[in-house]
Amino acid sequence: MRNITIENLTDAVIKAMSDDIPARNREIMTSLLRHVHEFCKEVNLTYDEWTEGMEFLRRAGDISSDARNEFILIADIIGMEVLVDMIDKKPTHGETVPTVLGPFYRDNPPVLPKGASIIQKDFENQETLKVTGQIRDTAGNPVPGVTIDVWEDAPNGLYEQQDPDQPDYNLRGRFETDADGRYEFVCIRPVPYPIPYDGAAGELLNYMGHHPWRPGHIHFLIQKDGYKTLISQIYDSETEYLDNDSVFAVKEALIGQLKKAPAGSGSDLEMEFDFVIRSNEMLQAAE
Ligand SMILES: [Fe+2]
Repeated sequence: MRNITIENLTDAVIKAMSDDIPARNREIMTSLLRHVHEFCKEVNLTYDEWTEGMEFLRRAGDISSDARNEFILIADIIGMEVLVDMIDKKPTHGETVPTVLGPFYRDNPPVLPKGASIIQKDFENQETLKVTGQIRDTAGNPVPGVTIDVWEDAPNGLYEQQDPDQPDYNLRGRFETDADGRYEFVCIRPVPYPIPYDGAAGELLNYMGHHPWRPGHIHFLIQKDGYKTLISQIYDSETEYLDNDSVFAVKEALIGQLKKAPAGSGSDLEMEFDFVIRSNEMLQAAE
């Protein structure tokens, strides 16, 4: 097409797509093209600003590696990861609200018996926390044999893979629910931490005048064959940043109450938190 103008460009690019592409490709690209073009027009984007944006993306690529995906951090601070999570993983039958996995999950954590501690190294300022609860299905029945991966940051605000002074897989564990669907483990009261801001995501936070901090939370990945996997985070009700999480992942239903543990119970604090998971059968029955 010749005689491209501001007015006819968007349709020209959409029309350039082949008829042979999958319908979903067409749907995604048509909408993306319309929004990107509209954005440039709406803000009257200058050529210098566009160049700076392209350089920003190049720097994001440069700092990315197998261990660090800067684009996910960028998506997090613009609320995109949590938006996709809410759209795609929306609870449909009363199951526990999910939230984002985050960049610090590691598979194959130590398999531990019910009640065990995930603490491999003590910190001076730590408060130990016993977490207990039950996993039920959407009909209220306890679900035994559920695999629960938990992970959290240390009192210095770092996950073990960010910190050479922590043992491998520190503050990570894999547990299983017992015959009554109950689980229990001991960890450390989680503390707020900043998402990595030494790269392009940090530049964007500066550009937006936002901070990198996340409220203290414990991550959960809850899985059992025949059930929808639940990925969530439980927040400490007394932590900072519950109302201005840098990645917008906090939900009221995921705030846990940490209480002082009775003397002699083996931990400083305790928290009870139950989860509801949905069986695939139940979903099929409802359809
Ligand atoms: Fe986290």
